[in-house]
Amino acid sequence: MAKVKKASESLTIMTNIVLPNETNSLRNLFGGELLAKMDRCASISAARHCERRVVTASVNHVSFNHPIPEGGVVVLESKVSRAFSTSMEVYVDVWLDDPINQKKIHTNEGIYTFVAVDEFNRPIPIPDMIPETEEEILRHAAAIRRKELSLILSGRMKPLDSVELKKLFQEPEDVKESKKDKK
Ligand SMILES: CC(C)(COP(=O)(O)OP(=O)(O)OC[C@H]1O[C@@H](n2cnc3c(N)ncnc32)[C@H](O)[C@@H]1OP(=O)(O)O)[C@@H](O)C(=O)NCCC(=O)NCCS
Repeated sequence: MAKVKKASESLTIMTNIVLPNETNSLRNLFGGELLAKMDRCASISAARHCERRVVTASVNHVSFNHPIPEGGVVVLESKVSRAFSTSMEVYVDVWLDDPINQKKIHTNEGIYTFVAVDEFNRPIPIPDMIPETEEEILRHAAAIRRKELSLILSGRMKPLDSVELKKLFQEPEDVKESKKDKK
């Protein structure tokens, strides 16, 4: 598929208020409720990017940095951070929004992988994605390492077959050479 899209074209924003039946015993938003909202938001971004039906292939990372209280206004923002052949990484940022004091706290983030599928659930090619902002460029660059890690953790790739992850643990050739010279 030759089409190329911008990250911003997949931007999805979902705003919700936390209701009592979504909270835990501390009256904060229950983690599983938040995960479901994040998955929904991310899946819309993925579908917006590839204009196809998508399925969640993996949840690569979720962090819970700050509790979200009952009555709180939760804003989820997701965008495709990198498109591969048939799969794409989607980043979800979650904010607790205080509309009265006009303050926003970044409470969570999650990183998902979606795959575009045809009517027989077979993976199909997706458009490439161009990052534009500084944040989009950073997330795009790191996505290949997260994909390799996710494939390793799911048993789909042998650690020794990784390319980008291995580079993190290998010394660059020029450093190796200069060490040899000193011996
Ligand atoms: C996701 C699914 C379609 C992949 O099908 P598959 O036959 O294994 O396909 P492939 O091995 O060709 O993988 C397809 C793509 O997904 C990627 N992928 C698969 N599992 C992955 C994982 N755990 N982490 C990261 N990427 C993954 C592959 O790397 C490949 O990416 P690429 O084509 O962009 O390089 C299939 O496993 C499935 O239907 N899973 C169930 C999905 C589901 O029910 N989700 C929850 C409800 S929506």
